[in-house]
Amino acid sequence: MIELAFSILAADFAHLAEEIARAERGGGTIVHVDVMDGHFVPNITFGPPVVAALRPITKLPLDCHLMIEDPDEFIPAFAAAGADMVSVHVEACRHLNRTLQFIADHKMQAGVVLNPATPVEAVFEVLPMVHHVLVMSVNPGFGGQKFLERSVARIDHLRQLRDELGLRYRIEVDGGVGHDTVAAVVHAGADMLVAGSAIFEGGRAGAPSKTEHNAREFLRIARSAASRTA
Ligand code: DX5
Ligand code: ZN
Repeated sequence: MIELAFSILAADFAHLAEEIARAERGGGTIVHVDVMDGHFVPNITFGPPVVAALRPITKLPLDCHLMIEDPDEFIPAFAAAGADMVSVHVEACRHLNRTLQFIADHKMQAGVVLNPATPVEAVFEVLPMVHHVLVMSVNPGFGGQKFLERSVARIDHLRQLRDELGLRYRIEVDGGVGHDTVAAVVHAGADMLVAGSAIFEGGRAGAPSKTEHNAREFLRIARSAASRTA
């Protein structure tokens, strides 16, 4: 099943609840929350208090993408805040197996994330224990960057591995995924599609929000690519 995980990083923070409702009306089914610490990535965003504030305003699953060092330290706080999915970077975890187990112990769906320069093989040993693998298709830290074309082959590789190993993990893709790039990633096997600027663009600074329309159009393109692939 193809799903849109809309990244609130690109949303109008002064109207977050309304913008989330619009993205949901447009067909979005997952709220993607980009957590940055100013160390693992050169940017700072938000943490557990924002997740806790979002929890009562939407029934959609909250997908927390942790771009932070020492994620273990914060996993209990994300669980308490109401996160449903937590993804950690392989590059940030000294004991990846332990961290993923820790997430699962907190009753959240565990995901592992690969930066663009990290070989897919780096997560081979943990594939049986993850709910999803997140392929970064930009270098993490900022929204609105250009999609890195090599990501398509990496998604395809993960899909082939899933078939060969008889596993069920989902393949999430994040960064530069928009109306022009989504068909290629769906075709390669991605089924959780993160999009920020493609969904929330045009909604800032008092302009009428295009969020619902953007989400609907994005999903139309993605689903038509999926039906051609099947
Ligand atoms: C980047 C974040 C992404 C980002 C995607 O570090 O992980 O989720 O918000 O934004 P767009 O869709 O604008 O590339
Ligand atoms: Zn993200």
